Amino acid sequence: MRIIHVVGARPNFMKVAPVLRALCQRQGVTQTLVHTGQHYDTNMSDIFFQQLDIPAPDVNLAVGSGTHARQTAEIMTRLEPVVIEHKPDMVLVYGDVNSTVAAALLCAKVGVQVGHVEAGLRSFDRTMPEEINRLVTDQLADLLFTPSEDGDFNLRKEGIPREKVHLVGNVMIDSLVRLLPEILCHSKDGLSKRYALVTLHRPSNVDHSEVLKGILKSLLDVSQDLAIMFPAHPRTRRRIAEFGLNAEQLQLLDPLPYVEFLALQRGATVVITDSGGIQEETTYLGVPCLTLRSNTERPVTVSSGTNVLVGQDSQKLRSELVKILQGKAKKGAVPHLWDGHAGERIADVLSGHQFSRNVTLPDRKEGARRKFGNQVLG
Ligand code: UD1
Repeated sequence: MRIIHVVGARPNFMKVAPVLRALCQRQGVTQTLVHTGQHYDTNMSDIFFQQLDIPAPDVNLAVGSGTHARQTAEIMTRLEPVVIEHKPDMVLVYGDVNSTVAAALLCAKVGVQVGHVEAGLRSFDRTMPEEINRLVTDQLADLLFTPSEDGDFNLRKEGIPREKVHLVGNVMIDSLVRLLPEILCHSKDGLSKRYALVTLHRPSNVDHSEVLKGILKSLLDVSQDLAIMFPAHPRTRRRIAEFGLNAEQLQLLDPLPYVEFLALQRGATVVITDSGGIQEETTYLGVPCLTLRSNTERPVTVSSGTNVLVGQDSQKLRSELVKILQGKAKKGAVPHLWDGHAGERIADVLSGHQFSRNVTLPDRKEGARRKFGNQVLG
């Protein structure tokens, strides 16, 4: 079985790691790792590869930043010869970023099967670029690996044949579980005081000056009660500068490596975020999470977990924060199959899958081969 994994942005890296590792344990699997280069800063990319023990990508498409159209088109254009050369049985794509949809669309066009890891999530908000990416990718995918039952439900409603859909659990939690001992070590030397950990990068929150100004003001209010730890995404930092806003009192940090960031999450009094993955990580860790969005594609974090949606409503943020400070934070449970074994379940499904191609690709050139763990990467 020949698999190409396509990743590109920070939230993809913790998802591919457990799948690579699980497939390494299987006989007769050749894996190729393609990084689109959507995220390229060391602290947005390389450091995650190191901490997650992911081998260096076999191919880096180095697309960099750009408009959605340009980035998506560039990934498709640069990925095409790689797929044609490697002739994989399946290309696996992860999450909901532009790299995900670009790879899925390219594969559908050249007739190579696609597997979508983290399928079926829906915010039902088509102003979110990720929602478009999710909808298109799931329509094109031949195998859909869902993290929670709501994903299966959404896909059924959209007419995706049941046999394509596999409830495997949450691969991102696999990475968290694997690195938990390291996270605990970091936590010991961590901060003892109470703090709010903040992340913010959604276009809907940071691309409009009035909205961003309002959120920064709310965070300043929070800082009256709690120290703020705010590792800022490059997009957010750039917008603050562009809009001439003052975030000095919030003392922005650079983006943090994975283990250090998880350790900070674990020790936080509250996490305030607009990220998707962090809603899940806080639910797993049992840490209160206030999400600066009015919807979520991860409803299980609200129904079962510790997540509360506060949107851009500063009053609601305040009242939820007060509850947390008074020790009345929402209690949560870890969702079904968020157990550290989702990657293995994906490998099981792939092992039993009948692969087929819709078109004939040219003959595969034998590329350089190298070792990953005890398995050859092709
Ligand atoms: C992307 C994903 C989003 C995900 C987020 C995690 C899409 C549509 N969005 O958003 O779902 O939650 O990644 O971080 O795919 N930049 C750098 N260095 C980098 C990467 C980006 O400076 O390594 C800057 C660039 O100015 C770029 C901007 O950040 O224009 C936005 O990057 P982009 O990849 O377009 O989207 P994200 O906001 O990171």
